Amino acid sequence: MTEEDLYISYKGIKLPKIAHTPESLKHFEEFTFRPDDVLIVTYPKSGTTWMQEIVPLILSGGDPASVETLHNWDRVPWLEEHRALVLNLEDRPSPRMFTTHFLDDMMPASFFAVKPKVIYVMRNPKDVFTSLFHYHVMASFLVNPVPQSEFLHKFLDGRVVFGTWFDHVKSWLNVGEGQQMLYISYEEMVKDLKDSVRRIAQFLEKPLDAEVVEQIANRCLFKNMKKNSMSNYSVVPCEIMDQTKSEFFRKGVVGDWQNQLTAAEAEYFDAVYKEKMKDVKYTFPWD
Ligand code: A3P
Repeated sequence: MTEEDLYISYKGIKLPKIAHTPESLKHFEEFTFRPDDVLIVTYPKSGTTWMQEIVPLILSGGDPASVETLHNWDRVPWLEEHRALVLNLEDRPSPRMFTTHFLDDMMPASFFAVKPKVIYVMRNPKDVFTSLFHYHVMASFLVNPVPQSEFLHKFLDGRVVFGTWFDHVKSWLNVGEGQQMLYISYEEMVKDLKDSVRRIAQFLEKPLDAEVVEQIANRCLFKNMKKNSMSNYSVVPCEIMDQTKSEFFRKGVVGDWQNQLTAAEAEYFDAVYKEKMKDVKYTFPWD
């Protein structure tokens, strides 16, 4: 199917029609935040599902009930998606947890007035590209990414869903004054998950015993989350996500781009990255 069939355009950004509708985008624009809301923000394939497991476990003090009984899309729903319309988010008790793939300047007015806590998860864009490529192979609501060289140009130009990785990261690195932000990377989480859980808990002002931190980190290991049917998308029909083509929990490693990109593609990627990120002061773990 073509992009016209599969995507809608919103504020110059392509979004998959399967989850985004004019009604869901209107609901998003009119959404009212509370100061104690927690918002997970990611560019796709940067560790969204992972954080949708970690944050509820931290806020529940390690109680696994919600991660064992609620699908990640209901547990920490995407605010821009159609599903948000049927979840009665207004009635949820505080602290509420949400997810978005949108850029900072796409957030609704209430977000800037209330300034809820934001956890921004970043990942090496070459690994994001690699993960996204395989996601496009298995998801029928995304265009075919073959040939890879063409998809790579689309990714670097932002002609993919949710726009360019570069604009996304830059927009969330340049948030307004007073915005409570935790910046954390996929790479840091892979390197030391316990320490990452500790940092996130501290940011959420939820003190946890060392033993609980350990339990949460253990539950959120790739091999354990992969088995959680509330998080591994196994209930999604294969006509929508065909996990025989590529699993949602695919590899969960750092540096898989080396198996995906040719030397010339990696070199081109680096050149574009250097140019687009030249004014960014933040030090990323992959730099
Ligand atoms: P790979 O395709 O590289 O394996 P998102 O949730 O933002 O869509 O990101 C999906 C990516 O995060 C996939 O990457 C997936 O395997 C990885 N992932 C999910 N949970 C993980 C975990 N607990 N540990 C490491 N990687 C994880």
